[in-house]
Amino acid sequence: MKPSLSYDPGFGVVELHEQEFVQIRDLLYRITGISMSSAKKPLVTSRLGKRLRHYGLGSYREYFQMITASDGKAELQMALDLLTTNETRFFREPKHFDFLRQQLLRSRIPGKTLRIWSAACSSGEEPYSIAMLLDEVLASAPWEIVASDLSTQVLEKARSGLYSMERMQEIPSHYLSNYCLKGTGTQEGFLLIERKLRERVQFMQHNLIEAPPKLGQFDIIFLRNVMIYFDQETKRGVVARLLSLLRPGGHFIVGHSETLNGISDALQTVQPAVYQKI
Ligand SMILES: C[S@@+](CC[C@H](N)C(=O)[O-])C[C@H]1O[C@@H](n2cnc3c(N)ncnc32)[C@H](O)[C@@H]1O
Repeated sequence: MKPSLSYDPGFGVVELHEQEFVQIRDLLYRITGISMSSAKKPLVTSRLGKRLRHYGLGSYREYFQMITASDGKAELQMALDLLTTNETRFFREPKHFDFLRQQLLRSRIPGKTLRIWSAACSSGEEPYSIAMLLDEVLASAPWEIVASDLSTQVLEKARSGLYSMERMQEIPSHYLSNYCLKGTGTQEGFLLIERKLRERVQFMQHNLIEAPPKLGQFDIIFLRNVMIYFDQETKRGVVARLLSLLRPGGHFIVGHSETLNGISDALQTVQPAVYQKI
């Protein structure tokens, strides 16, 4: 006797056809500058598949129509949040923090506010690491940090300043005791960045491929581990826009796996991944 119900192991899994992948890839490139090769097809399926299941959609074509419709802005932002890679850590690439401490803070102009922009800050670990160092070294001297990202989801997390306790290992112990609180009650298992530090970092949404925000001039710009997703032309545009907000003599810091060779004539190398505006 045949069973009345059959188990379909593929139930709920929708195939991403090449043409649909190309549509999503091109949209992502147009909006964010992020380039994706066909090797990223499984990544798109795993990250957007849950949205198709959420809406009960039977194809990526329908999802594409949804996010490109005039009333689809919120879901489009959700898709962008899911498609961006937000991996980050406190004090990632520690040599940059040594550089900040030894070189920049000593050559700071007394009485002048030191201004730093973390231009693809993800969930906030990078700007909070910078803030801990500045608060320690500069004490009462004036400083400001602006931190921006394209993804609203990571910005929300960054603003909350709440991180899983496992992240403790990334933070030097004196910073942990000076700037982090151990969560209790509903925040058990989490660490919270102290309010006095949270209040000193201004988070905002900014898309690097759009015109630079009117934020005035910065002394240092961090643009780390985001250019790996851009092609040469996009990199050139992004760096040029950011450089318009960096003062002459200011420093531009990229990820250790990134280089600005052939990207801009306005910068000279100081040490690997650290540049200075001429
Ligand atoms: C891998 S994280 C790097 C975070 C941090 N800078 C670090 O080095 O740890 C890259 C971040 O770049 C952001 N991003 C990607 N494209 C962007 C764009 N066009 N404009 C602004 N942010 C973007 C992503 O949302 C993501 O949070």
